[in-house]
Amino acid sequence: MSVTVRAPAKVNLALVVGRPREDGYHPLNTVYQAISLYDDVRVSDAEDWVVSVHPIGEVDVSVVPLDDSNIALRAGRALVAHHGLELAADIVIHKGIPVAGGLAGGSADAAATLVALDRLWDLRTTDEDLLAIAGELGSDVPFALIGGSAHGLGHGELVSPLSDHGSYWWVVVPSDEGLSTPEVYREFDRLQPDLDPTAHQADPVALVSALQEGDPDALATSMRNDLEDAALSLRPELAERIALVQAHCDAKVMLSGSGPTILGIVASQEDALDSRAALLEAGFEVVHVATGPVAGAHVVEYA
Ligand code: C5P
Repeated sequence: MSVTVRAPAKVNLALVVGRPREDGYHPLNTVYQAISLYDDVRVSDAEDWVVSVHPIGEVDVSVVPLDDSNIALRAGRALVAHHGLELAADIVIHKGIPVAGGLAGGSADAAATLVALDRLWDLRTTDEDLLAIAGELGSDVPFALIGGSAHGLGHGELVSPLSDHGSYWWVVVPSDEGLSTPEVYREFDRLQPDLDPTAHQADPVALVSALQEGDPDALATSMRNDLEDAALSLRPELAERIALVQAHCDAKVMLSGSGPTILGIVASQEDALDSRAALLEAGFEVVHVATGPVAGAHVVEYA
């Protein structure tokens, strides 16, 4: 028997970052949205833990580790440890989310694995426990479980769903080479050594009300990403890429999370498809069109 769970990529509509805490993490005040780029994770019983990764479309999976450091594998081990069990599984990931792109693809795999194994073994883990295990695995994993649009506090792991009456269209432009999230945070600290200790307490009020109203224009004007300068400092050529995307989309454009994926919010599916065509014509090799918000990790097949 196998269970397949689908989990979405995330974008940060607002990413307000504070001074690093004692444990090295940065306090965040963020608004997440799950968008329609997905990884599918299929799990089945096995003698020993094993993970494999297969690309969907153009995604480069060569940098995904297949050893014990793989986050889906860590998720599986954490779940059985939580229940005091000694089980193992074969985890097969079909990856449609660009790797190391600031879209939380690894977090999606971890969330999908938690849900899939919970169903495979009928563990009936409570939502509270699943969220706690997810938060230990990575800052974005709890959000990948709940999906939709959500407010994130702590270092991103304390999530609460937001009321969102809209449906939005995104143009998503990945880069060939990923960026390391810890490196981007380190660069953020280097660029802002004297950051006000209360900086992260700025709640994204305008953005939350734009979602509540379902107003894409208000959303576009209130989006904010505090990691963008740090990512651009590490990868200066991204500025030109952002300008090119801006020139070909009638959109508000910014980096997704710690980058280097570039995001544009456009007014409609038609605009998104037109922008994609223009960007491909201009020489961009891969351009995705996605909509959000979409559901968090959910079962798509029992076989
Ligand atoms: O939580 P996650 O494993 O995704 O984080 C990866 C790294 O990114 C952390 O080890 C830390 O260096 C950095 N990070 C941070 N502050 C956050 C989230 C991540 O400094 N809020």
